[in-house]
Amino acid sequence: MRAPVMAAPTIRAYALDPVDERRALVEGLLAPHASISPKYFYDARGGDLFASICRLPEYYPTRVEAAILERHRLALRDVVGTRKELVDLGAGDCAKAPRWFDLFAPTRYVAVDIARDTLARALPALAARYPAVDMHGIAVDFSRGLDIARDLRGSAATFVYPGSSIGNFAPQDAFALLRSIRAHCVVAGSGLLIGVDTKKDPARLVAAYDDADGVTAAFDRNVLLHVNRILGTRFDPEAFAHVARYDETHSRIEMHLEARVRQAVVIDGATRTFEHGERIHTENSYKYALEEFGAMLAHAGFGGVRVFQDDERDFAVYYAA
Ligand SMILES: C[S@@+](CC[C@H](N)C(=O)[O-])C[C@H]1O[C@@H](n2cnc3c(N)ncnc32)[C@H](O)[C@@H]1O
Repeated sequence: MRAPVMAAPTIRAYALDPVDERRALVEGLLAPHASISPKYFYDARGGDLFASICRLPEYYPTRVEAAILERHRLALRDVVGTRKELVDLGAGDCAKAPRWFDLFAPTRYVAVDIARDTLARALPALAARYPAVDMHGIAVDFSRGLDIARDLRGSAATFVYPGSSIGNFAPQDAFALLRSIRAHCVVAGSGLLIGVDTKKDPARLVAAYDDADGVTAAFDRNVLLHVNRILGTRFDPEAFAHVARYDETHSRIEMHLEARVRQAVVIDGATRTFEHGERIHTENSYKYALEEFGAMLAHAGFGGVRVFQDDERDFAVYYAA
């Protein structure tokens, strides 16, 4: 029998307007409550640090999600089905792709991520390992919507969005993203498999975002180096402390960079003084009760929602048809 011929993966990059992007980043930093979008975490070093975070004992989401997928593999294969197009949202280094291939035997793999270079590095290696699977990458910022119809086959598609990355969006933005995923699920047999973190003891949540080895702190501070490259600023990451806190009102972990000393940074020609103790908000990670997230999926137009969990109910994997 002949070995299948491997086609080189294609990548389409949806260019962002650099002027708009820069303006939004500058506005966030100059605002009275300074912030940086978490999408700036994922330069090459940020991607590597995130991979290290996933291996930390405190960071349970990756481990528990993997255990849920393993434990419920037969039921998942049953509800999700096999031999469809598989669209991996926030695929990053595509480290989870082999698991999807094993579970759902997709005929086509579409990796979607803002980090074009990471996709460009990951996809050829994956294509060499799985020559029978057609592969395509889409470099896009999906916080602006998921306008990717021309990249899809229009056949039954399984969208996967693991790792509780949906929690980085405020609920109204998470809802908008779910609606735009739903809009692509036009053919019967399509659906979304999504991992979502649950509410739990705040001390465990905080530890997951502020580990003893300081890997998450390094990840948080690294965003300033990325910002320096984009804006030509001279932030000193060591002049900021990593802070993780749980906000009960919004059911979210917040990450901040807190100025260790009073300091001034020139940002796009303006001098921004950060007082000692002043914070730059870098990430939210919303946590959802099962009924809350189930209701959001239903409002977004999905039906037949199934939930898969671990015994401790530390994490939830939903399949929404
Ligand atoms: C937390 S990592 C998750 C990676 C992997 N899917 C996992 O579950 O371990 C988030 C991924 O989403 C990507 N990402 C973050 N914001 C994005 C955005 N606005 N649009 C597209 N991709 C984004 C990052 O580049 C990164 O690869």
